[in-house]
Amino acid sequence: MMNPVTNPYSPGAGRPPAALVGRDHERGSWKVALERIERGRGAQPVVLYGLRGVGKTVLLSDFAALASARRWIVAKAEAGAGKSLREMLGESLHGPLADLARPSAGRRLLQGLRTALSFKASYDLAGTWNFGIDLTEAAGGGADTGFLETDLAKLLKDVSAAGQEQGTGLAILIDEAQDLSGAELTALCSIAHLAGQESWSLVIALAGLPSLPRVLAEAKSYSERLFSFERVEHLDDALAREAIVRPAADESVGWTEPAVALVVQQASGYPYFLQQLGKDSWDVATSSPIQLADARVGVERGRAALDAGFFRARWDRATRSEQRYLRAMAADGDNGSSSGAIAERLQRRVTSLGPVRASLIAKGLVFAPEHGIVAFTVPDMASFIQRQPAA
Ligand SMILES: Nc1ncnc2c1ncn2[C@@H]1O[C@H](COP(=O)(O)OP(=O)(O)OP(=O)(O)O)[C@@H](O)[C@H]1O
Ligand SMILES: [Mg+2]
Repeated sequence: MMNPVTNPYSPGAGRPPAALVGRDHERGSWKVALERIERGRGAQPVVLYGLRGVGKTVLLSDFAALASARRWIVAKAEAGAGKSLREMLGESLHGPLADLARPSAGRRLLQGLRTALSFKASYDLAGTWNFGIDLTEAAGGGADTGFLETDLAKLLKDVSAAGQEQGTGLAILIDEAQDLSGAELTALCSIAHLAGQESWSLVIALAGLPSLPRVLAEAKSYSERLFSFERVEHLDDALAREAIVRPAADESVGWTEPAVALVVQQASGYPYFLQQLGKDSWDVATSSPIQLADARVGVERGRAALDAGFFRARWDRATRSEQRYLRAMAADGDNGSSSGAIAERLQRRVTSLGPVRASLIAKGLVFAPEHGIVAFTVPDMASFIQRQPAA
């Protein structure tokens, strides 16, 4: 029996893989951004976008870890969980700021702390923060006008300056950014724009679905020049192989060539699927190296697990009429469907399907890659739907 305790694969939302493969370019650009700011030069804010399960969250976490390791002030938040951007960023900054607070703090850190207190007061009148030091003499404050853009700009400017005083800066990372409100996206764009003009020690990374670049463009037309857009893609064969082989090798476990080949081919390079099929093959195997026969059973079990979890959870989130819409899309596979073709298949008018389409987008099940087209946010969703019995 292979030991399930040492199974190195990690299927699951945001679970860090034992080997984060194929992201050297993105990680390299991020390190350059941090280093540029440390040297007093500006850096472009980044947008990571891609399908579900492709590895955006773990990349964003890696960005956060890289910044923390360089002693940056790091705030990481996830949109769409029912909290406002104001609250998310305020709360995620509390810990890092509390760690820095000390009576001997420099002038700008004291100012940043005082501004953070006023920002907290802007959304939470009852809960006061106390950094354990007297800030009455410090400059700062005033991030509580109630206007998001004004308050957030004040907060990020003063905390960036506090970071700069420590020789680093402030890193803001926001996952599922397509779920921010229009006003929040507009505020973020304006602030990033201002930060660039005034060379604040601030770097912003947003991650989200493939609709994110468009959503940002709708918020501020100059966003396409403001951000550096990085599409997070599935892994090519060589990298997918590495994602399977390397974690096992670290545990002194091998894979036979045909066994890896099967898993790589069945996962189509999608990181989530690789982790799932790798995990199940490991659990099936009785000894090293993992054989083709193990991988065959592993792939079978892994697919069943994906059907029961990854796909099922999304399918069940759709109402009956939404499921009918998704089924009409599935006829086109994973490539996207035109709203017109869907309407025709359902014998409805395009306009009458507008609300269903909007609701599916809001639920994150589909996105609009371009005007009049919808596509699944999850790879292989079409074939899953076609396997479901008609209601
Ligand atoms: N570069 C990578 N190499 C190997 N495995 C990876 C890589 N990136 C992500 N994974 C694995 O893929 C799975 C999905 O990763 P993650 O949750 O970051 O995806 P995501 O793009 O954020 O998905 P979602 O849109 O659903 O939030 C996790 O199990 C993770 O361990
Ligand atoms: Mg994610």
